[in-house]
Amino acid sequence: VELFTALGIETSCDDTAVGIIRSDRNILGEAIKLQQEIHEPKGGVVPTLAMVYHQTFLPQVVKSALDNARLDVVRDIDVIAVTRGPGLAPCLSVGLNAAKTLAIVLGKPLIGVHHMEAHALTARLTNPELKFPFLVLLISGGHTLILLAHGINKYTQLATTLDDAIGEAFDKTARLLGLPWLKGRNGGPGAALEKFAAAGDPNRYQIPIPMTKEKRTKENPNMSFSGLKTSINILLEKENLDLRDFQVKRDVAAAFQATAIRHLSDKLNLAFDWCKERDLALNGLVASGGAASNKAIRTSLEKLAHDKYNIELICPPPHLCTDNGLMIAWAGIERYRVGLIDDYTINHIPKWPI
Ligand code: KG4
Ligand code: ZN
Repeated sequence: VELFTALGIETSCDDTAVGIIRSDRNILGEAIKLQQEIHEPKGGVVPTLAMVYHQTFLPQVVKSALDNARLDVVRDIDVIAVTRGPGLAPCLSVGLNAAKTLAIVLGKPLIGVHHMEAHALTARLTNPELKFPFLVLLISGGHTLILLAHGINKYTQLATTLDDAIGEAFDKTARLLGLPWLKGRNGGPGAALEKFAAAGDPNRYQIPIPMTKEKRTKENPNMSFSGLKTSINILLEKENLDLRDFQVKRDVAAAFQATAIRHLSDKLNLAFDWCKERDLALNGLVASGGAASNKAIRTSLEKLAHDKYNIELICPPPHLCTDNGLMIAWAGIERYRVGLIDDYTINHIPKWPI
């Protein structure tokens, strides 16, 4: 088999990331520029600000990744991959235009990548033996999806969130509790909430599990996370909780996290039932996306997959669960292999169903 190398560009949200990987899974280099210190004072990611920082830093990040890999873009890179969507429109366009220009000028194939497919396919980068079909739980700041993966570019969406994404709920709850963001890769508000929850008592406060009043049906394992945030708000006001007390913050964080996990597990059970009814021989459960870097979530998914369904949980290491350039490069490799090459005129798709 002939080896080839892909450079992947990711600018769908607030991280400017570039990764370089070879088709035999050899990770050659990467670079990432985080924008946490820009957005934390604003309470969340500001799209127009994020765009300006992508514009400022992307060229340097591309150069750093190439230098880190000790590669020459003309000689050593065979394919240019880039996140085409979903994501913040102004941010996507920065990465896409850079990738299109690089690709056309260098005469290399361009691969527009679906950001959520890239999160899912990361599991095939870390676990070479993982074959289709498998079940995928994608949990990030913008999406909460349960997918059945049949092949590259072939997914059946079994469930989504009806309102907020789970990562968004973590972020909003961290904000309600006034938690300082954790710094660095795998940092941010969600990681801060996890840290507080880890030192808290999940049983001190009771928070209702979402959607328990609705009819539970295998045909509709959809989720809802906006009510959780509201429940936290109600709890804080009703009990008149003193947020200067750090133990209160830890216990509320723990209650939130435990409830979010129970809701996820409940809906995953329905998805497993759906697959069982169709006699699908699943080769694993994949969990990926930023919130899949959460240790409590990973542990509970591991239990569910292993103890209840006797199936392997494949969860990429935290730095590959949160947004990164390698996942885009790898998705580019997977798509290129099956002939999915794009035109140099493609545009971004901010809302892109999988
Ligand atoms: O995949 P990702 O890096 O970017 C998107 O595609 O959205 O996911 C970011 C989301 C954010 O909402 C962030 O708060 C959440 O993932 N997240 C976490 C953790 N680390 C990141 N949520 C819970 N626990 C964490 N440790
Ligand atoms: Zn993501």
